Amino acid sequence: MLNFELHLPTHFVFGKGVELETGKKVKELGGSHVLVHYGTGSVVRSGLLNRVVASLKEEGIQVELLGGAIPNPLDTLVYEGIELVRKTGVDFVLGVGGGSAIDSAKAIALGAPYDGDFWDFYSYKVVPQACIPVGVVLTLSGTGSESSNSSVITRSATRVKRGVNVEVQRPVLAIMNPELTYTLPPYQTAAGVTDIMSHILERYFTNTPDVEVTDRLCEGLLLTVIHAAKLAIREPDNYNARAQLMWAGTLAHNNLCGVGRQQDWACHAIEHELSGLYDVAHGAGLAVVTPAWMRYTMHHNTLRFAQLAERVWGCSMNYEHPEYTALEGIIRFEHFLRDIGMPVTLKELGAKAEDIPYLAAHTKMGNAGTHTGYFVPLTPKDVEKVLHLADK
Ligand code: NZQ
Ligand code: ZN
Repeated sequence: MLNFELHLPTHFVFGKGVELETGKKVKELGGSHVLVHYGTGSVVRSGLLNRVVASLKEEGIQVELLGGAIPNPLDTLVYEGIELVRKTGVDFVLGVGGGSAIDSAKAIALGAPYDGDFWDFYSYKVVPQACIPVGVVLTLSGTGSESSNSSVITRSATRVKRGVNVEVQRPVLAIMNPELTYTLPPYQTAAGVTDIMSHILERYFTNTPDVEVTDRLCEGLLLTVIHAAKLAIREPDNYNARAQLMWAGTLAHNNLCGVGRQQDWACHAIEHELSGLYDVAHGAGLAVVTPAWMRYTMHHNTLRFAQLAERVWGCSMNYEHPEYTALEGIIRFEHFLRDIGMPVTLKELGAKAEDIPYLAAHTKMGNAGTHTGYFVPLTPKDVEKVLHLADK
């Protein structure tokens, strides 16, 4: 295991009805003037926005409202939010919704105290040093943004989608009521499930030896998510299934499963090009990229893939030919994704094979500027080959 540091500042409030405590918790954390930032309407329709605003006002907290964060949130609304925060003196930003509203809230909170253009952070010219405290009322289990150190924003003019990972933006408050996810369309539930699984797999595929504790955490989370996903899709108001998914989503991406090991992240880098260009759900893009990436990288460490197949997908180990076990695990994963309603080919996603060179050329090469991923560092040519494997 590698040396590591982990500081999780997030105060979690989890369970039925907890959104009614938002005001009290924000006040305890020092918020007196809050920007409530949300998406394109689900929180208005469900009445959640009214409940949250009422709970803030009950505590004497001043409230500013800004809606309109679309899936794959845009820089344009972030600029608007930054202006609003500066003009009104907001001291706490509360994202209410899924990963898109939360990420947009984080970007506003990073950009407001910064003198320059907030896009400097997302184009990696400047590392953010300060952030207005961020809180979250979560309505979609998936991204883990409620306690992650990341936010992902799309530049509207170019469709470039980029993420920033810095500790200062980790939320200080996460209000998590699984009941709030009952209204999710099955496709969004499934996309969230795929995202959770990918956050685990990006960490699971590592070259670091002796990482049993995090391996077992990853495997346990995957087993739970696979079971709960089917239940939640069949019975949208199954509280237990929704609760397992919600907490698994957090644990999958707050880095409890990733510390002490090298992580990969190639699938995410490749996927961000897909959702940036075609405006598809992030989880759906991952459902297409991940099995293809697995097929491409499997031979780098067949035993690790076979271990996953045996422990998570219930395959029996073929000791003579572990590559058969590894492949069987990938096939079962793909079947699972299909079962929950995810696309697994570029065509099903609505992506075009002729765009593969563009997608590969634009994929962020985060590893030394020349490669993406660390388990198997991929060049743009490799990325093309991965995408061709998804072109079935
Ligand atoms: O906009 P509204 O009206 O709220 O509707 C949303 C949206 O249409 C809807 N929705 C959310 N909660 C709902 C609901 N509809 C009914 N009932 C509810 N309870 O679902 C749609 C998708 O919402 P969105 O927030 O876009 O989904 P998700 O949570 O999957 O977020 C995706 C974004 O997060 C980024 C992705 O790249 C993408 O831009 N990610 C953020 C990460 C992070 N910050 O750590 C990590 C991830 O890897 C990911 O990259
Ligand atoms: Zn993700």
